[in-house]
Amino acid sequence: MNINLKKKVEKENLLVKFVFENKFKEKTDDYFKGELNQIFLIYNHEGHKRVLLLGLGKEDELTLEKIRRLSSLMTKTTKSLKLTSLTIQPIKFKDFSEFEIIQAVTESIILANYSYNKKTDKKDKIKDITSITFITKENLKKDLETTNKICKNVLLIRDLVNESSYNKNSLQLTTKIKQIASSHKLKIKILDEKQLKRLGMNLILAVNAGSSSPARLVILEYNGNTKSKKKIAIVGKGITFDTGGINLKPTGYIETMKSDMAGAATALAIIKTAKETNLKQNIIAVMPLTDNPIDAKAFKPGDIFQAYNKKTVEIGNTDAEGRLILADSLAYTIDKYKPSLIIDLATLTGSCAVALGNYAAGLLTNNDKQSKNLIEAANSTGEIIWQLPIYDEMREAIKGSFADICNTSSEKGYGGALTAAAFLENFVDKTPWIHLDIAGPGYLEKEHHYISKGGTGFALRSIINFLKNY
Ligand code: BES
Ligand code: ZN
Ligand code: ZN
Repeated sequence: MNINLKKKVEKENLLVKFVFENKFKEKTDDYFKGELNQIFLIYNHEGHKRVLLLGLGKEDELTLEKIRRLSSLMTKTTKSLKLTSLTIQPIKFKDFSEFEIIQAVTESIILANYSYNKKTDKKDKIKDITSITFITKENLKKDLETTNKICKNVLLIRDLVNESSYNKNSLQLTTKIKQIASSHKLKIKILDEKQLKRLGMNLILAVNAGSSSPARLVILEYNGNTKSKKKIAIVGKGITFDTGGINLKPTGYIETMKSDMAGAATALAIIKTAKETNLKQNIIAVMPLTDNPIDAKAFKPGDIFQAYNKKTVEIGNTDAEGRLILADSLAYTIDKYKPSLIIDLATLTGSCAVALGNYAAGLLTNNDKQSKNLIEAANSTGEIIWQLPIYDEMREAIKGSFADICNTSSEKGYGGALTAAAFLENFVDKTPWIHLDIAGPGYLEKEHHYISKGGTGFALRSIINFLKNY
């Protein structure tokens, strides 16, 4: 996206103005009052070819998120007029800075502009917006370029999640990550199946057993602050397709399972964004990559494997594979890199979406202080994260009958997001750890304001926001 700033309006092709309820001077009709989300288009007005009025409602009820949602209407209206550029006259409200307001509008336009579209009919090909201009006297160029980069990386996650599974097996994704590592000068380590075997990462190998594409554990490193001892590890679940394995997923549940690598895509996008925006933090991104296939050679219920940290794990259900690849990854990362904080991101449980709905991620943690900061950072980006508890009954529920722990819970059907986290807790020791279950918000079946349907890119903006102040 081309983002331009200029001090004065000229004769614009499309000028967008925000108006508070009943507080505007333009002549409209009886219907338009400037209520929230009302829009009104005037032709040949004040020397402009088109003026689009966007209703803000009442100032005391206005929030940045309402601005983002309203701006997605502006984006759609612009596109339906077959225009690829627009000029925006921002407003001031409450104590928000001009930058915060322009940033919210920019985020919304870039994110709402996106669609994953392989349709071939001409009428389905809508041109994207390529350039936006803001009227402002402030010099916000640099800050808005940062916003631009962050949002571009949200779109990268969406593209990766929306990609067909046959184009993103473990090897194909590894190649993609390698390319980004080399273009961004990020240190990369790739553990192949032989190294995983030698290191004892038998849980990753178990999930990969029936696959036609060997497992990989890919680790990227970015040192943005060599003076600091702090180091954040981001571990992302990278199941390139989750069939459920021998516990095959039924119709109605399997269709969206190419999205089960959203966590890994997000980890990749976080470290890429950190590098591009010069974030002053030391970060590693850890991405275990495999599909969860159904095959004669696939792992089976009742199997027992020994994890990297030597704990034995009984398989109750091959569809609870995410926690298996995360377990080895978490234990290995903590052992080898000793991070001061480890965050894992995973489309881990349907239960989490059942508990919180599709628009909120579940957060489970052994560190309430950092979690509170992350939840607050999310709130200001418009993303919703809710904390769920891990309590002793849940720890009890994942004890194994023959092995130390089991990948399913004895509390059949209840508290699935909690027992999944109780399982992961066995692999993080005392390291401050935040688990984000993004099974709901990582992929949406319908469009939601500026969030396109399909892969959403959820959590990138929140985590970048959190990392700025970590
Ligand atoms: N990838 C799924 C979780 C999921 C479900 C993500 C729906 C996105 C949308 C995960 O691997 C899974 O299958 N979890 C099971 C665990 C169960 C077998 C203990 C679940 O949540 O039902
Ligand atoms: Zn599964
Ligand atoms: Zn899964």
